[in-house]
Amino acid sequence: MKLFLDTANLDEIREAHSWGIIDGVTTNPSLIAKEGGDFVSVIAEICEIVQGPVSAETVSQEAAGMIREGRLLAQVSEHVVVKVPLCREGLKATKALSDDGIPVNVTLCFSANQALLAAKAGATYISPFLGRLDDVGQDGVELIEQIVAIYAMYPALGTEVLSASVRHPRHMVQVALAGSDVATLPFKVLSKMVEHPLTESGNARFLKDWSTVPDPDVVGQVERFLAARKG
Ligand code: E4P
Repeated sequence: MKLFLDTANLDEIREAHSWGIIDGVTTNPSLIAKEGGDFVSVIAEICEIVQGPVSAETVSQEAAGMIREGRLLAQVSEHVVVKVPLCREGLKATKALSDDGIPVNVTLCFSANQALLAAKAGATYISPFLGRLDDVGQDGVELIEQIVAIYAMYPALGTEVLSASVRHPRHMVQVALAGSDVATLPFKVLSKMVEHPLTESGNARFLKDWSTVPDPDVVGQVERFLAARKG
C-alpha cells in the first residue's frame, strides 16, 4: 500500500519524507491557497523532495482548459500527476490527458458509479473522499470497499484506488483492510499513526532500567569487543 501526504506544506513534506515512508503527495487548490506560495514553484519543489507522484489540480471548469493546464503542469516535472474533478468535463479531460500518457488523478469522487466512469476514461488514480462522506452521514469506508471490489473484478481498467479525505488513524486501518492501493493523509494523522502511549512508557522504562547497568555505553562496548576479537 502506498502512502501519500495530503498537504502543500514543504516542512511537513520534508519531515515525513525523512521518515522514509512517503511515496507521493497530493495537493488541492485549498491546500495550495493555505500555504500562500506560488503554485507552480511549490509543486516543483514538492516533486524535487519526494521524487514520486505529486498531484497538482487543474482549476478550469471546461475540458479544454483542464487539458491545457494539465499538459503544461505535466511539463513542470516527470512526477506531476494532473488532478481533475469528477464531472463530465473532467472525464473528457481525463481521456485526453491519459491518451497523451499523462497520469491523471480524478478527484471529488463520492460514488462507485463515478469511480467506474473515471476508470473507463483512463484515470491513473481515483480519489474517493471518505471523510467528507462520513461528514454527511454516509459510510466513506463502504465506498472504498465497493470501488476496490469493482476494480478487482475488472483489472484491465488499471486504475488505483487512492483513499482521500482521511481524518483519523482508524480510517487508515479501515482503508488498508479494504485493500486501497493508496491513501493520502494529512501530516497530523500520519503523526498520530506513529504514536502509542505503551510505546512511549515502554521506552521510558527500558531507558530507566538501562541506566542501572555497569556500562551503558553500547558503542564503546561493541567497539572494544570487535577490537579484542580482531586481536
Ligand atoms: C485529496 O486529494 C484531497 O486533497 C483531500 O484528501 C481532501 O480532504 P479534506 O476532506 O480533509 O479536505
